[in-house]
Amino acid sequence: MIGRREFLRNSSVLGMGGVLISKYPLAALAANADSRIEILLDEPLGVISPNIYGHFSENLGGVIYDGIWVGENSKIPNIGGIRKQLVEEMRQIKPPIVRYPGGCFADSYDWRDGIGPTSNRPRRTNFWEGAEVAGSPANHKYDPNQFGTNEFVHFCKLIGSQPYLAANVRSLPAEEFYRWVEYCNSPTGSTTLAETRAAAGYADPFQVRFWGVVNESWGCGGNFTAQEYAVEFRRFATWVPHYGMELSMVASGPNDDNWDWTRSFLEEIARKGAGELRSIYGLALHYYAWNLSRGRTRDWDEGKGDALRFDTVDWYELLRQGEVMQSLIDGHWQVMGEIDRQHHIKLVVDEWGPWYRPGSEATPGDILEQTPTLRDAVFSGMTLDIFNQNPEKIAMANCAQLINCLNSLYLAHEDKFCVTPVGHVFKMYAAHQGGQALRTIFGAPLVHYQRDGSLASLGSLKGSASLHEKQIVLTAVNSHVSEPREAEIVVRGGSVKSVSATVLTDSDIRVHNTFAQPDAIAPKDQPVTPGAFSKFVFPPASVTKLVMTLQ
Ligand code: AHR
Repeated sequence: MIGRREFLRNSSVLGMGGVLISKYPLAALAANADSRIEILLDEPLGVISPNIYGHFSENLGGVIYDGIWVGENSKIPNIGGIRKQLVEEMRQIKPPIVRYPGGCFADSYDWRDGIGPTSNRPRRTNFWEGAEVAGSPANHKYDPNQFGTNEFVHFCKLIGSQPYLAANVRSLPAEEFYRWVEYCNSPTGSTTLAETRAAAGYADPFQVRFWGVVNESWGCGGNFTAQEYAVEFRRFATWVPHYGMELSMVASGPNDDNWDWTRSFLEEIARKGAGELRSIYGLALHYYAWNLSRGRTRDWDEGKGDALRFDTVDWYELLRQGEVMQSLIDGHWQVMGEIDRQHHIKLVVDEWGPWYRPGSEATPGDILEQTPTLRDAVFSGMTLDIFNQNPEKIAMANCAQLINCLNSLYLAHEDKFCVTPVGHVFKMYAAHQGGQALRTIFGAPLVHYQRDGSLASLGSLKGSASLHEKQIVLTAVNSHVSEPREAEIVVRGGSVKSVSATVLTDSDIRVHNTFAQPDAIAPKDQPVTPGAFSKFVFPPASVTKLVMTLQ
C-alpha cells in the first residue's frame, strides 16, 4: 500500500504517459469531457475469481443436443461427438466453469441414465417436453441420454473448464447424490463405480469440486419453503464422501430480491448450530431481466418483451433492470452477514441474463432460445462489470445459457454456427479473470428517458477495472443510445505508457449475428493515438475494453 504523499506524486492523467484519444470521429468534436473515470491503484477490492465468467448448459431445447453434442458419427466436425467449432471458440474465452445438467432439468435427472455404453442408455421423457412445440427435434422431447456425465466432463476438459454439477434433490434420494460423487471422484480402481467409469475410458477421477444441492428449491426443485429446503440441504450435504479433495456445496438461494428466503434458509441452517453454515460454500442467486411492460404488469408471460423488435425505451428498460444486480448483491449480502457473521458463504449467481418472449429462435422449435442483440451485449458487459466490482462477495456466476438458449454466447444448428454479441463480450472481458479488482469511480451524466409519460433514468457510463502486474484492464458500457461519452481517465497512483482499445458497437441498436450474417457485429480494435490528451470517447450503445500498460 503506498502512502498518500507518494500516491499523489505518482498520480497521473493518462496524458502524462503518452495518452490518448480514440479515433472515434466524435472525439474531435467534443471540446470538454462530460465524464470522468478514476482508477484507484491503491484501493484494491480483491481478486476477481475467474469463476464469475462461468457458463450454464442445461439439457433444454437445443443447448445440449445440436448445440454442444452432435454425435460421434455426425458430418459436423466434432471431437468425440462434441461440436468442434464450439470447443475452438470457447478456448478463446478462457471458460473457467460450466454448470450442468440444469436448471429445472437437474431435479428430474437420474445421472445413472447417462453413464455406461451409449447403446444401453435409456431414452427418457425430458423434463421440458411439455414446452416443446410440434416440429421440435425428437431428441429434445425424448432425452436420448447420449450426453451424460462422461461426455460433459470430456467437454469441460476440451475447453479447459471445471465441471459444476447440479444434484437432483426433488426426485432422487440423498444416497444417489453420494453415488454420483463416488462415480465422479472415487480413485482409480477403488470402488465399483470407479471401475464403471474406467470401463467407459475414464480411469482418472473427474475431481468434481462444485456441487449444486438442487436447483431453485423454491420452485421446480421441490417447491420447498426455505425452512424445508434447509433441512434437505443439511441431509444431502452431510457426510458426502470427499476422496481427499475439497467439495464446495452450493445451496439453492433466492429468486431476485427475495430477502426473506435468504434469511429464513440461513436461520434454519444455523438453528442446528452456527457451525452448520460452514457446510455451504455458496448461496445461489438467480436473476433474470424479463419485465419490459413498463410497469403495466408483473405477469411472467405478459410482461416479457421482444428480443429483436424493440425501441429505445425497451433498450433502457432492460438495462435499468441490469443495474438492479448491484442492489441484489448488496441486499442479500447484508442479510447473509446478519446470520453468517464472518461471511464464510459467498454468492453464486448461477443463472443470470435477459429473458424475452418466444419468437426470435435461430432454430424454430428450440424452446427458450432467443437471438441476442447489441442490447444484450451491453447488459452482459454491465453485469460482468458489477461482478468484477464485488470480488469479495461473488465467488461464481453462470450466464444463462451457453448456446441456443436465453443469453447465449453462441447459436448453432446442424452445421451452422455463429458467435453472438454476448459471446464477443465474454471474449473481451476474459482479460479481467484473476486480476486485482480496483475501486474505480465513474462520473457521468445519467440517461433520462420517458417511460410512457413518467421520467426514468439510468447510468450511462459504467464499468470496472482490474490490475494484472503492469497492466490495467478497464471495461465500460455506454448505455446511451445516441450520445457518446467523452471521459477523462485518471489513474491514481500510477502512470500509463500505452493503451489499446477494443470496441463493440453499431449504429443499429438491434444489430445481431445470424447464421446468414455471422459477423454483422464484432468487436473492433480501435487505434489510440498517443498525444497530450487524457480522454477516451465511448461511442453510444457500446461495450469497450481499454488495456493500459503502466510505466
Ligand atoms: O434457464 C432456464 C430456466 O430458468 C432454468 O431451468 C431454471 O433454473 C430457471 O428458472
